[in-house]
Amino acid sequence: VVERADLARSDAADPLASLRDRVELPPDVVYLDGNSLGPLCVGVAARVRLAVEHGWGEGLIRSWNDAGWADLPRRAAERIAPLIGADADEVAVTDSTSADLFRLLVAMARLRPDRRVLLTDDRNFPTDRYVAGGVADLLGLEVRVVPAGDLADALDPSVAVVTATEVDYRTGVRHDLATLTGAAHDVGALTVWDLSHSTGAVHVDLQAIDADAAVGCTYKYLNGGPGAPAYLHVARRHHAEVSTPVRGWFGHAEPFAFSDAYAPAPGPRGSTPGPRRCCHWSRWTRPWTRGTGSTCAPWPRVDVSSPTCSSASSTGGSAGSASRSPRPVTRPSAGRRCRSRTPRRTGSCVP
Ligand SMILES: Cc1ncc(COP(=O)(O)O)c(C=O)c1O
Repeated sequence: VVERADLARSDAADPLASLRDRVELPPDVVYLDGNSLGPLCVGVAARVRLAVEHGWGEGLIRSWNDAGWADLPRRAAERIAPLIGADADEVAVTDSTSADLFRLLVAMARLRPDRRVLLTDDRNFPTDRYVAGGVADLLGLEVRVVPAGDLADALDPSVAVVTATEVDYRTGVRHDLATLTGAAHDVGALTVWDLSHSTGAVHVDLQAIDADAAVGCTYKYLNGGPGAPAYLHVARRHHAEVSTPVRGWFGHAEPFAFSDAYAPAPGPRGSTPGPRRCCHWSRWTRPWTRGTGSTCAPWPRVDVSSPTCSSASSTGGSAGSASRSPRPVTRPSAGRRCRSRTPRRTGSCVP
């Protein structure tokens, strides 16, 4: 029998134990639901308040540039890319996992126009199977659902795309994506993997396994919070030929040309219809990489000696003081580091 004292000893010896201080949880809550919604990271509430009160309330339209909102999808993609073993230009951050999966299944199936099967397994997350059904209806394809352990054996030259969620949300059972990707390529099929239950929890390396495309959410193990956007990945070798079925102005090669004709940006950025989903998440949460030299996100005339990026529990935090004395929005000089002059519980500079 495991006693509470045993667990306390294990906790004390856990090299990751200090990370507990980077999330806010109600007292006495033992939270084991990060697979559904990761907990609130220290400092995020203050940052979101700043985004609303200063970025939106005071900066208004200037904040697209001055607060860096227009650039947030790119910056978020840069943060996610190393977590999934991809380059930043292979990742776009936008919309929901379901919407991104739709984009990729359509785009990948179109790369195999002579094949008519979307292959998936019976343990895949429900939304993924619903989306696959919708894509099959749209493109005149067939969804073939097989037992999870049989995916590799079910691959044949009729399969255009095989799609699965790497980690089963019910059991934690994990597909061997390297083997599956190789088997798919052997029959000429493409892969779209759902990493929602992997990224941030287990090692993911899409380039090492030669994956074609992938999606995932950010509100589970990446602690993006409710409403945080999803991400999609397209391997660089497909960038020239892949085309998204959802077009929007930020997916345009020159969004501010406002041209009549659509000319997609190369690669996954062509799937970014607009930057809005990132805006209120401007302190993009990355609590696990504190101290790696990240710079502060640009914010209203930040006095770098003030604790703008510190936790909500900091004394004299700038969220409060700034809201008492509003300042015009200006971009701080590039490369400034966030420092606190006052004690804080934890907190980091990452947006
Ligand atoms: C594996 C997996 N895929 C897709 C989804 C759906 O995500 P969204 O609601 O962002 O479309 C979820 C939601 O929990 C999920 O766990």
